[in-house]
Amino acid sequence: MPPPLPRATNETIVSPLEGKRIVLGVTGGIAAYKAIEVSRRLVDAGAHVVPIMTEAAQHFVGTTTLSALASEPVQTELWHNPTTPIPHTKVGQGADLIIVAPATAKLIAAYRIGYSHDLLTNTLIATRAPVIVCPAMHTEMWEHPSVEDNIDTLRERGVHIVEPESGRLAGGDVGAGRLASPETIVAAAETVLGPADLDGVSVVVSAGGTREPIDAVRVIANRSSGKQGYAIAAEAASRGAEVTLVSTVSLAAPPGVEVVAVETAAEMQSAMESRASGADVVVMAAAVADFRPVDAAGGKLKKRDGVPQIVLEPTPDILAGLGSTKPSGQVLVGFAAETDDLVANAEAKLTKKRLDLIVANDVSAPAVGFAHDTNAVTLLRPGAKPVEIDLAAKRDVARAVINTIVEIRTGND
Ligand code: PMT
Repeated sequence: MPPPLPRATNETIVSPLEGKRIVLGVTGGIAAYKAIEVSRRLVDAGAHVVPIMTEAAQHFVGTTTLSALASEPVQTELWHNPTTPIPHTKVGQGADLIIVAPATAKLIAAYRIGYSHDLLTNTLIATRAPVIVCPAMHTEMWEHPSVEDNIDTLRERGVHIVEPESGRLAGGDVGAGRLASPETIVAAAETVLGPADLDGVSVVVSAGGTREPIDAVRVIANRSSGKQGYAIAAEAASRGAEVTLVSTVSLAAPPGVEVVAVETAAEMQSAMESRASGADVVVMAAAVADFRPVDAAGGKLKKRDGVPQIVLEPTPDILAGLGSTKPSGQVLVGFAAETDDLVANAEAKLTKKRLDLIVANDVSAPAVGFAHDTNAVTLLRPGAKPVEIDLAAKRDVARAVINTIVEIRTGND
């Protein structure tokens, strides 16, 4: 397992999961093994994970692995529980959030009717904390009217349901009912515990590097992985925004985000321009090629024909175009990838492209910028003091960017 990324030190950008006590309930389904990854991600985000496994869950995975990766040993017992003499209320009362993943049809039914027969169901009934239920079961069970009815009732009561996905199920069947990915489950936890300060706000983000064709098989590309843009899209969505991500890469779409696939600067320009005019916030995190071949050969250039003379022309500056037509009240954000004179160069782009915010990264520094999981940036706004964000996970950097966007929007009101 890779080591956890450095966590943000700046207290304004820590994850909403930092320091939170999260009970992770695991019930008896084949997807129980995925709960271990959910636990690891929650712990990496700074949460204190209290694991509970039902008796049936222990038929699928043992307690040892989850105990090792959670913040304390797995609890299984309502009676003779070594942690506390009254576990049926203590565990639920102390929680900031309860997640049940996977949740079987039996757990869902018991929770609906308040049938508190074991430690997990007691904990669910005894808590005032928000609850996220992540069902996983065979398609026939998931679509059974009793399960649908129970889910509807839980939802009406304010329980958050992370719907299962379609895909391969136990026994080789394929259909709806597969547990949502650990990433989706943790994103749901961040949404529930984080601020909803972009509720209903439309956000368009670009991500990845454009690829400009030389011929049918070769392109001019750059090293952008799209990770920073995807992190911004995920953070905005987790705070309630309606997010469209214009992307050149095929990373997994963050939960709730609509992805528009593009490849060249021209395609990105058209996708961004058509969506930006109606957006409240636009963020250009993509690395757009500055030059492209004037004529791309239709077929593959042959080696035997010798070294080709490739004539380049400038691509349109998408961000500058968006700046010149920016609707009133929109927040327009650019990035600046620099290797020297970071602040001076970024400030020039901030002014020239008429931006509200520019996020400058020194892409020559270790672990910063292209393709890394981490970044370190300076946030520049017109007339304001630069704000430095030290090396942190790209999701933490995204949180800093979104916090600043929220501040700008609040000032605009
Ligand atoms: O994708 P990752 O691997 O996670 O890496 C992240 C990143 C390094 C790509 C990201 O943090 C970043 O710096 N993105 C901007 C890269 C870039 O193109 O910087 P620039 O200084 O050349 O351009 C300034 C701004 O103008 C950028 O917002 C860029 O999207 C925009 N631009 C540039 C050229 C062009 N023709 N059209 C544009 O809109």
